Parts: sequence; structure tokens; C-alpha cells
Amino acid sequence: MTHIALVGPGAIGGTIATWLSQDSSHTVSVAARTAFDGLEVATPQGVIRASPRVFTRSEEAQIAQWVLVATKAYDSAAAAKWFGALCDDRTHIAVLQNGVEHIERFEPYFPRERILPVMIDCPAERSGPGRIRQRGAIHMVVPESAAGADFVDLFRNLPLDVSQSPDFRTAAWRKLCLNSAGAVSAVTLKPAGIVRHQGVAALMRDIIRECIAVACAEGARLDDSVADTIIDNMRKGPADSINSIHADRLAGRPMEVDARNGVIVRLGRKHGISTPMNSLMVSLLESVQ
Ligand SMILES: NC(=O)c1ccc[n+]([C@@H]2O[C@H](COP(=O)([O-])OP(=O)(O)OC[C@H]3O[C@@H](n4cnc5c(N)ncnc54)[C@H](OP(=O)(O)O)[C@@H]3O)[C@@H](O)[C@H]2O)c1
Repeated sequence: MTHIALVGPGAIGGTIATWLSQDSSHTVSVAARTAFDGLEVATPQGVIRASPRVFTRSEEAQIAQWVLVATKAYDSAAAAKWFGALCDDRTHIAVLQNGVEHIERFEPYFPRERILPVMIDCPAERSGPGRIRQRGAIHMVVPESAAGADFVDLFRNLPLDVSQSPDFRTAAWRKLCLNSAGAVSAVTLKPAGIVRHQGVAALMRDIIRECIAVACAEGARLDDSVADTIIDNMRKGPADSINSIHADRLAGRPMEVDARNGVIVRLGRKHGISTPMNSLMVSLLESVQ
């Protein structure tokens, strides 16, 4: 029996906690900021439900073998406050967040060698506490390692695509390419279909190409064709889909500006790479935060 604690039961955390609870070889508990009764996720395979133990105070927490963190990147320091109550010297932490700085965000609070970064691709939206719509398939990628293999094993009985990669860096930067373009939706308050406007598609392509240039300087293996592929896929995808930074702006929540576009500007500066379009997105989004 593996005890898994999930910190941050929002769109991603709630979905993953509900799926993990479908496997009776796990016990799943949830560290929440806001209490709620039960989880219900409308998935492409039908509605799934779970009633994990939910706690909002660290005195109620128990040591877990795995702690999965699925808060927004800007809530990482607050999420780390749970570690003292949830972790012993064998616990691993998996970081299910966007961006490319999963380890950097948590190494001030936890031993680096027991932090597992997770690239998660899972279009999901929260409609209320514990109520989530999972719009598409879930893919997760982790680095090839002993901890990576253990993490993949947590999902062995579930219909989720979870794999190890010998080149996690490239997987994470490829996802950031997509996320970087999502800033345009947050600025304009228009869902993904806005990519069908030619000028907007050109702007998104420029944003992504800046991301690719910085990714390559950081050691990822991506070329400019990735920008065209992302734009083509967005054009073919659902026009009404709302990415998570757009959803945050609509809900009046803070946005992951630094984790999604700011990081491209910061690391670009480090490598002497100019990133004017990402800078523009950062300035516009910071101005409306
Ligand atoms: N949504 C997507 O489609 C998607 C897809 C791929 C990756 N991601 C990434 O996944 C990460 C999570 O995104 P999300 O969309 O799931 O965010 P979300 O829906 O806003 O959920 C975040 C959750 O974290 C909780 N939280 C915040 N601080 C906490 C704390 N100190 N202790 C416990 N819980 C805390 C929030 O509590 P409250 O309930 O009080 O707000 C909320 O339930 C982000 O990095 C995002 O970019 C999202």
C-alpha cells in the first residue's frame, strides 16, 4: 500500500488525486488550502469520483511515500510548508507544474535529489471546489531515474500515459513553447481560437521562436519547426479551450507570468538572447495583475 499525499487539489491536483484513488493499492490524502467534500471529475472516459481524506492543517497530515505538488508555481513556497508534516527522509516529491524550473522552485525547502520534476499535459478546468472537467488525455513525462520509474509505477493500473524520458529537459521546454504562446489569450481574454487570426498566429510564432532559442541555449533539442507544429495544432484544436493563465485572469487570481514567459526573458538575458515578444507579454500581464 503506497501512501500518496497530494498538495493543491485544483484542476490538475484534483484530477490526479481522483485517478490515483481509483487504484485500491494506494491510499490518497489531500492537503488543501480550502476544505471541500469529495472529488468529481468529468473525464473523456466518464465521470470518476473519490473521497480521499482532506485536511487543511498540518497537524492532521501523515507521512507519505510520495508527495505530489500541484499548486500554481507562485504558491510553491506556501506548498512547501506542508513538507515538514508529510515527509520523512524516504519521501519523494513530484512537482506537477508548468515551466522548466520545477527543481529550482523547491530545492530551497527539500533535498534536490528527492525532487522529481513532472511535465504534465492535461487540459483541465475547475468549476467549483472538487469539481473538475478533464477535457483530454493525460500525458506525464519524468526524467529517466529510479524515482522516475517509481513514479511511473504509481499509475500502472490506470489509463494515463506516464513515461520516463532520457531527455526530460527537451520535453519540459517543448511544453513551455506551447504555454508561452498562451499568454496572448490571457492578454486579449480570448480563448484558443484566436490563433485563427493570421496576425495573432504570427505573434504567437514569434513568442515560441524566442522560447526555442532560449531552450536550445539551455541544452534542449528543439528547432523552429516546433513553432509551426504548435500553431497548426492550436488551429485544429477546440476554439473555446481556455488555458490556465487565461482562466486565472478571468477568475481574478494571480497568473503564472514568471513561470511561463518571465523565465524565457530571464534565461534569455543570461544567454544574451533577445526576447522582445515575451517581454511584451510579461509587461502587459503584470500591468493587469
Ligand atoms: N489546468 C490545466 O489545464 C493545466 C495543464 C497542465 C499543467 N498545469 C499546471 O499545473 C499547475 C496547477 O495548475 P491548476 O490549473 O491545477 O491550478 P488550480 O486549479 O488553481 O489549483 C491549484 C490548487 O492549489 C491549491 N493551493 C494553493 N496553495 C496551497 C497550499 N498552500 N496548500 C494546499 N493547496 C494549495 C489551491 O487552493 P484553492 O482551492 O484554495 O484555490 C488550488 O486548489 C500549474 O503549474 C499549471 O500551470 C495546468
